[in-house]
Formats: sequence, structure tokens, C-alpha cells
Amino acid sequence: MKVLAIETSCDETAIAIVSGEGERIEIDASLVFSQVETHAEYGGVIPEVAARMHLEKIFPLMEGVVPTNGEGIDAIVVTAGPGLSPALRTGVEVAKTLAVLWNKPLIPVSHMEGHIYANWIGGDEIALPALALVVSGGHTELVLMHAHGTFERIGETIDDAAGEAFDKVAQMLALPYPGGPAVAKLAERGNATAFDFPRGLLEKDHFDFSFSGLKTSVLYFLRKHEAQLEDEQFCADVAASFQEAVVDVLVKKTARAAKKYDVKSLLLAGGVSANTLLRARMKELGDDMGVPVHVPEMKYTMDNAAMVGVAGYFRAQDKKNVVDPLSLQADSNLDFVL
Ligand code: KG4
Ligand code: ZN
Repeated sequence: MKVLAIETSCDETAIAIVSGEGERIEIDASLVFSQVETHAEYGGVIPEVAARMHLEKIFPLMEGVVPTNGEGIDAIVVTAGPGLSPALRTGVEVAKTLAVLWNKPLIPVSHMEGHIYANWIGGDEIALPALALVVSGGHTELVLMHAHGTFERIGETIDDAAGEAFDKVAQMLALPYPGGPAVAKLAERGNATAFDFPRGLLEKDHFDFSFSGLKTSVLYFLRKHEAQLEDEQFCADVAASFQEAVVDVLVKKTARAAKKYDVKSLLLAGGVSANTLLRARMKELGDDMGVPVHVPEMKYTMDNAAMVGVAGYFRAQDKKNVVDPLSLQADSNLDFVL
């Protein structure tokens, strides 16, 4: 089984060829064109600009990698949502066109499901049921994965996503876009116990998250200490204390959920899974609980099509989600808990 995967949900144009047999998966090709430099000028992603760039880049990316007549490809997998509508639509329309032209099955997958499947790249054997902490720029969720293609969301953010909070705090500290990596880098030189920022909903007996209070708290704190924004050590201490608050809540809630649902493995997924502190704390949690922790390889933490291809590969195994190519529509709010 060999699939062509297309991902254009945000500001990365990505294609991949994923092949496999049973649980053994190979990434034959994975190419990503990042638009980050373009969007950095605006301080965030402009959906229409993203869509235009996807269209410009997607066919050049495929050249020399994807056979022009689709030979050897068994199915086409595409991210149908969630994401930015104009951006998603580009990938979906390209995938539909190829599926019709080549007469191949078309498999839409959720971007979030893709992030979870990034953990299957690299050959780790993952015992199910698993609990996935999915943390990206748009989502923060705890998801139980009972079996391939069977997910149950047990908690999510009621306001900002964790990555969004990183991006906003980066702006407050005048750090470049994308903010997450910049805050994390600055935090390396900071004291994580310097300031005590709030841990939203930590004491609550459910698995939802809230990061807007933390964001506002950092904002007011910086307004009060505006003069110190010139002081690099002060900024590093703010970054480290903020990061500590985010990671603390994420890991403690994950720990509670893992105990309640008695899962066999823990998975980290989404762009924020690149965060070194979060990866380390999740590993510590797994060691304490005696539960294996899987984290995606660094290059598959950010948006890419390989993870989307793997999700589609598993869906293709049991013919789940094969759709009529002409009826597929991009859905910016697509829910992956099917
Ligand atoms: O999954 P992703 O690439 O895009 C979405 O699906 O949203 O996630 C991007 C998010 C951004 O908010 C970015 O700032 C954050 O992931 N991020 C990080 C790190 N690397 C990326 N946040 C914290 N620490 C990092 N090292
Ligand atoms: Zn993503």
C-alpha cells in the first residue's frame, strides 16, 4: 500500500509518499515548503496569501517525486480540516483533481489525527489504548485513542491553545514569529521560578484547559514592569516562568487522565510537542507511571504531509473514510473524533 499525502491546512505546503505493510511504515518522501518567512512580515498567517503560495508551490514539490500518471499510488490522502479555509481548499482541490484523473480512492483525514500519527513514524510499537496530548497553534486537547481511527476527546481548551499562548507572549516580548520556538529559546537562559504565573483550571476535576488567564496575567505583569523589557535577563525569566506554567498544567492534567483511563501509552503531538521542556516532563511522567511515552521526531512535530499520509494509510487499511472525490469539501472546523 502506497499513498500520496497532501497537507495545506496552514502555512506549510507539504507532500509525502508513505508506503507500508501492516504496522510497518516507510516514509518514501516528505517535502515541506514553509511560508514562515512570508508570514513573519505580517506577524501571523494571512489565509489568502497562504492559499496562493500553496498553489504556487504544490506542483513544483511533487515534480520528480510523484509519478505524473499516478502509477504505483494506491490512494490519495489529504488534510480536509481543521485549519484555514482558503489554505485547506487548495490542497483538497488538488487532491480531488488527482483522484479523479488517476481514478484513485480519496481519503480525507483530520490534521489533528495526522499530528497523533506522527508518533508512528520511526517504527515504535505503540500499545493501545493510548492517551494523546495534542498541543498546536490552534488546539490543545487530551484524546483517548482506543484503536486505529477510533478517538475520544476527553478535554480541550476552553479559550486559547497552548501554542497560541506561546505566540502571544512572544509578541509581548517583541520576539519574532513563530513565537513558540523563540520563547522556548529565550527561556533556556531564564529562571522558571522567578515569577508565579497562574495555572488555569489546574485544580478542576476535568480535563479542559484554559490559557487566556495566563496570557492576560503575563500582559499585565509586563505592563507593570515596562521599563524592564530592555533587560534581557528579566525577559528570559518571564519566558521561563510562562513556559513552566504552561508545561506544568499540560503535564499534570495528562497525568491525572492517564491514571483515570489506565492507558498503555502516552503520546505527545502537535507543533508544541517540539518544546524541549514539555518532552522532558512527559518522559519523566511516563517513567514515574511505568507507561511508555512516545514523542514525534523533531522534523515531524511541525506541519508535514508524512503524518497525514500515515493517518490515511491506517484508514485505508480498513477502508475507513474513502469518499467520493467530487463531493469532498474542506472543513475548517473538521472534528477528528469520529
Ligand atoms: O502544529 P503546528 O505546526 O500548527 C498548527 O497546527 O497549529 O503548531 C504550531 C504551533 C505554534 O503556535 C508554535 O509557536 C508552536 O506550535 N511551537 C512551539 C514550539 N515549536 C512550535 N511552542 C513551544 N515551544 C516550541 N519549541
Ligand atoms: Zn499542525
